[in-house]
Amino acid sequence: MQSLYANGFEIIYDEMYQTFIDYEDEFVFYSALLNQYQKKQVLEIGCGSGNLARFFIDNNYTYCGLDYSADMINLCRDKNSKGNFILGDMTQFSLKNKTESILITGRTSSYLLSNKDIFGCLKSIHQNLKPGGLLCFDFIDANRFFKEIKGGKEVKHTAVFDQKKYERISFFNTNTSENLMFNWDSKYYEHTQGKIKLIVEDRSEVRAFTKNEWELYLHLNNFEMVEFIDRKSYAFDTYMVVAKKI
Ligand SMILES: C[S@@+](CC[C@H](N)C(=O)[O-])C[C@H]1O[C@@H](n2cnc3c(N)ncnc32)[C@H](O)[C@@H]1O
Repeated sequence: MQSLYANGFEIIYDEMYQTFIDYEDEFVFYSALLNQYQKKQVLEIGCGSGNLARFFIDNNYTYCGLDYSADMINLCRDKNSKGNFILGDMTQFSLKNKTESILITGRTSSYLLSNKDIFGCLKSIHQNLKPGGLLCFDFIDANRFFKEIKGGKEVKHTAVFDQKKYERISFFNTNTSENLMFNWDSKYYEHTQGKIKLIVEDRSEVRAFTKNEWELYLHLNNFEMVEFIDRKSYAFDTYMVVAKKI
């Protein structure tokens, strides 16, 4: 698990990502889609610190958030007293009640490192969706991103939140030992009173995908592919996938 997802660092994640991602804009996107398919029940996989959750809850969706990090789930509960949040693993989960739609948000699909993980995840989603249920998720597009980071690339992101200034220096490099993986080494800094302090370091191996891969994975797991939506996110070339349970 990435260092920023637990052990108190989830608070820093929460603050930094509110400046990286426009969660209201994310909600506008997802709610338009759910509206189009007349879905009012949502499971959000990889709900993180619950920044998107609050929009679903405030807009009267029957919402449930699922995440692998107990610290993220506790933070979600603190921030959203009316929300329903469960600790779980997207590669193997079971809900008490089936839902009309499932979203995997914020490129959480990048943590499906093996094909076994993907098949486990799609099987769990299929079992927990009602007939005709909707699946929507985003993924990092290997075709574009790998060309950008080939040979290694350093990228700096700055976040100013509540008078605190954070900086993240990332180093990306391709790592095709298995699938279309890449290494993401990052250092997080806080600027206080003119000084820069290293808060945490992380070394992760994450996964990007091609559209063809997802077409096949979805077909093999009894989903009808509806569309790919090209939607650049703050740091990555990203596609959204819209699919329906068959
Ligand atoms: C990049 S964050 C995205 C969080 C949130 N969607 C957002 O946009 O702020 C990825 C999240 O996925 C969660 N995660 C990673 N692997 C998971 C798994 N196997 N099952 C469920 N959640 C997982 C992490 O704990 C983390 O909160």
